[in-house]
Amino acid sequence: MSIDDQLARLDHHDPEFGRDPYVVYSAMRERCPVAHSEAHGGYWLVAGYDDVAGILKDDYTFSSAQGVTFPSVVGANPVIPIEVDPPEFFKFRRMLNPWFSPARIASWEPAVREITTSLLDGVAAAGEIDFVQDFGRLLPGIVTLRFIGLPEKDVVQWLDWIHQLLHFSIDDPESTVRVGLQCYGAMWQEMSRRREAGETHQDDLLGFLLHTEVEGGRRLLDEQIMGIVFLMLFGGLDTTGAAISNALWYLDHHHGDRRKLAEDFSLIPDAVEEFLRYEAPVQGLHRVVVKDTVIGGCPVSAGEHLYFLMGSANRDEREFDDADSVILDRKPNRHLSFGVGAHRCLGSHLGRLQFRVALEEILTRMPDFRLDRENCHRWADVGIVCGFTNLPATFAPSGPA
Ligand code: HEM
Repeated sequence: MSIDDQLARLDHHDPEFGRDPYVVYSAMRERCPVAHSEAHGGYWLVAGYDDVAGILKDDYTFSSAQGVTFPSVVGANPVIPIEVDPPEFFKFRRMLNPWFSPARIASWEPAVREITTSLLDGVAAAGEIDFVQDFGRLLPGIVTLRFIGLPEKDVVQWLDWIHQLLHFSIDDPESTVRVGLQCYGAMWQEMSRRREAGETHQDDLLGFLLHTEVEGGRRLLDEQIMGIVFLMLFGGLDTTGAAISNALWYLDHHHGDRRKLAEDFSLIPDAVEEFLRYEAPVQGLHRVVVKDTVIGGCPVSAGEHLYFLMGSANRDEREFDDADSVILDRKPNRHLSFGVGAHRCLGSHLGRLQFRVALEEILTRMPDFRLDRENCHRWADVGIVCGFTNLPATFAPSGPA
């Protein structure tokens, strides 16, 4: 089949595509950087760095109000602020920004380290770990629930719910509705508990959202609060776990790079950016065209759907030298893994913090880890999240570091 025929049928949710999307991206950038596929009722796929960045930066031409996944996995109640277009969007974003500022997130480092070390120390003596099941999914799960102010004991339940909603909603819409209602029920329960107990503290995000005032002294509506909390869970859990898992997969192959990082932790922040570039946890996002325009020389019309590929943009040789190689200290590194423009990831500093601390503590406790590569598995659908579901490993057992 010719590349044009393949692109005409391309479906970013297809497990076949997910097996090696980078081959397809490379062919697209070379031959057809803006391609039309007939899948999902028809949509455009955009592969080049400049075009992807241009779409991300232009919220007046490209709307996210119909969801950033395609087809959308989110229900009738919008998740906020990602599914709100300007100018209304700015009201929410301004309200939330201080919660995610670099200084505020830096104050989370002791908590992130404490959660990281207690998870790793729990398995250190055994000499065996599944880096996803025992660690990579739990760290962002616990951090995000603490940040929001939802009970941490429910972390596994929340992870299961969010996975169902993100990964299985297209194939199993009935369960998705049921799980969505369970999520709203759990949020509602905590909001009601706080109201009945007369709690007015604002030291977690939920407390802030319950008591803050927007425009003209009005409180947020309950559905708006739940839309914001939902987005933190969608945005914070699988993405961060996937990023950590992709780096560990790479380091399992590349012992020289692993040694460099283990010997000098000051290299880790740049390495984190490079791992994020090399395998974008969010490979692509969806927008709807609001007014007729041209992308990369290709006319697109109002009402059409776009799926633009940060996973491809991050490998574009016109932006990154030797784009298919990991260069630990790559500079500059203007990767698009957190997006760019108004909707740029609100949680990027929190995601980076967890990623850095996870690498530091893993390389301290188990620098010799070896993955059981035969039994490592990725999410089959890279159209949702690009990362692993299982990374079983062994290492020399030790006591707590
Ligand atoms: C490595 C980890 C992460 C990656 C790769 C990632 C990726 C992204 C991307 C690509 C966007 C842009 C969406 C768009 O333009 O439509 C985004 C937005 C967002 N992310 Fe993240 N994210 C990560 C971690 C987090 C964390 C830890 C949180 C919060 C706890 C979070 C919360 C959000 C929120 C709230 C938005 C929406 C911002 C807005 O619409 O203004 N993310 N993220």
